[in-house]
Amino acid sequence: METPRCRIVVLISGNGSNLQALIDSSRASNFKIVAVISNKPEAYGLQRAKHEDIPTQIIDHTTFESRTKFDKALADTVEDINPELIVLAGFMRILGNSFVMRFKGRILNIHPSLLPKFPGTNTHKRAIDSGDKEHGVSVHFVTSELDGGPLIAQEKVPVLKDDTPQALAARVLEKEHIIYPKVVSWFASGRLKMKNNDAMLDDEKLLLSNVLIQSQK
Ligand code: GAR
Repeated sequence: METPRCRIVVLISGNGSNLQALIDSSRASNFKIVAVISNKPEAYGLQRAKHEDIPTQIIDHTTFESRTKFDKALADTVEDINPELIVLAGFMRILGNSFVMRFKGRILNIHPSLLPKFPGTNTHKRAIDSGDKEHGVSVHFVTSELDGGPLIAQEKVPVLKDDTPQALAARVLEKEHIIYPKVVSWFASGRLKMKNNDAMLDDEKLLLSNVLIQSQK
């Protein structure tokens, strides 16, 4: 009999290249994507999901009169699907406290910077403009603090002379596609948990000083 795989829902807003990396690795991994939800009807990631016969839903935030109502509709939809994990993959809406509390410790996000540097948007341009020599990607548990939940793993890329935000983003994305499936599989196997607002891997607290090393595992 097939071992049951961890049921994940992926939330997207756009291209969905991270979704594709998750789809590809899920074929031989311990998690299964049971649904993809987009807040944007035109998100290309929806086509990627349909191509794999993964059920999709659109919850268009522009059709709701408030952020709270959008959050509730999204949370109700997710709850109906009953996943073990919610994976934000280029999902460009801030989730309110009520959503986050409802699925506490079960939401992951990927962010294109070495957090706590550059939360928010335009991270690649901000890294170049700051004269940083290194940039990268972070995966963290989602809490109500924007891009501020406990860090799980990071990968670095060098910022090159004459780099453009587009070129830098492409190099960071390559790392994202490796790091995110790896972290999701840690969660799926029960190795990764959030406890008292800390990320724990194999019962050890992940500290900022070791998330880079952890991502190599
Ligand atoms: C990725 O770079 C992801 O880290 C970023 O959006 C991009 C989505 O690409 N997410 C955020 O900025 C969230 N704050 P994709 O749609 O091709 O996966």
